[in-house]
Amino acid sequence: MNESTNGRSGLARAAKARRLWATPCFALLLLVLAATSVFGLPAAAAGVSPVSDEVWITLGADAFATASRLFVAGADGLALARVAETEGVVLTRVPRAGLPALSARIHHELHRCGGFVAHASRAEAEAALARIAGLRSRAPQGALPFAIDRPIEVAALAAAVDEAQILATITALSTNFPNRYHASPAGTASANWIRDLWEGYAAGHLGVTVELFSHGAITPQPSVILTIPGTTLNDEVVILGGHQDSIASGCPGNPTCDAPGADDDASGIATLSEVIRVALAANLAPQRTVQFIAYAAEEIGLEGSDDIAASYLAAGTDVVAVLQQDMTGYNGSVEDMSMISDFTDPDLTAFLGELLANYQPTLQWTTSACGYGCSDHAPWNDRGYRAAFSFETRFGEHNPAIHTPSDTVATLGGSAAHAAKFARLAVAFLVEAALDATAADIFSDGFESDDTHRWSVAVSP
Ligand code: BES
Ligand code: ZN
Repeated sequence: MNESTNGRSGLARAAKARRLWATPCFALLLLVLAATSVFGLPAAAAGVSPVSDEVWITLGADAFATASRLFVAGADGLALARVAETEGVVLTRVPRAGLPALSARIHHELHRCGGFVAHASRAEAEAALARIAGLRSRAPQGALPFAIDRPIEVAALAAAVDEAQILATITALSTNFPNRYHASPAGTASANWIRDLWEGYAAGHLGVTVELFSHGAITPQPSVILTIPGTTLNDEVVILGGHQDSIASGCPGNPTCDAPGADDDASGIATLSEVIRVALAANLAPQRTVQFIAYAAEEIGLEGSDDIAASYLAAGTDVVAVLQQDMTGYNGSVEDMSMISDFTDPDLTAFLGELLANYQPTLQWTTSACGYGCSDHAPWNDRGYRAAFSFETRFGEHNPAIHTPSDTVATLGGSAAHAAKFARLAVAFLVEAALDATAADIFSDGFESDDTHRWSVAVSP
């Protein structure tokens, strides 16, 4: 499970196509520069010959409207063709030379990076549409295999969440490793630092492992995986993840550029780290296997999570739920958080809302869409695994400093109070997803290797 297979299924190819749709922002700057010659011009005026220089793309209906305004009727009098439409995704054909301009226009109008998928052929584009239809209309997987039935354990762990610990981790990552770009030496050093932090939490906990997941030729940055083996349901896996890399818009590969990524996504790693800390300090013995993953190379196209999700699918791993933590630090909406509603599972998303209603009832939340596969939940979702994503604000009201040198702790108000809400939610998710209601004794005096319910919570010191 911990070795990268690099196996690629048809679904993995679908994920590849989706990544094109979500061109990272850093590429956008270059595209904008390259685009100025065709921006706003009709295809014909841009000097593009009709067929060989055209490319099949799929994009959301709103982005299609944007594209239609960009590629106005040329000399042939034809407007952009809505060749096919499935589940709000439109198939069309545009001049290849106009792709940078399209990316820039979508970014400008819809505040989205990329926003379309370019396909090698019409057949591939149609196959992608068919997959979208299949994914979105797939038979419901049935009821979630867990419920809210562990209030004592959730309360104990949530009370142990320490905002200062979260702030310390965000500060350490963003100042000691101010550019965690996947291909830079610091990107590997920061992976090792996270491994060491998690190993410290795991020390003395028999069976808990911390491993580096190598991505081979995809990226030198390894993902970090902490595993708490399940007791009675250890074939079922619950995953909590966030990405460890950062990126500087405009100079991604240059280690001298600042990319502190305090919010994006040191905050997510710090949130996960705090969940690990309190869970292991309480000797949590989940029935299902729990994995915490610090994904590599998210910022260049979800590469680490895509590789891991592909590998788990190829291995037939039964992942029952995935929670993504990407940007938990910036408090910018009326609501306390949003649940991302696209490329996620509606039932699991609703479950997060129920966890809030039960365990943090004063918090307000809403749903919000990225409009594209914006983070590491998407590769899991693409493969039919249930994923959910709790996010710092409504999409569009999020931290404006991400991918810039200003994504610092100062921009988060010097506080991890907002992130602590996510840690308490993640703790509730962990306990409720990994433990079913049972009459068995769930508290013990401490850890014993042969005790299937080796779970002790220090409710009072
Ligand atoms: N943390 C962002 C995703 C994000 C940004 C979610 C703003 C919601 C609001 C993530 O690290 C990122 O930058 N993703 C890329 C896309 C990815 C496929 C490279 C992006 O949004 O450009
Ligand atoms: Zn991010």
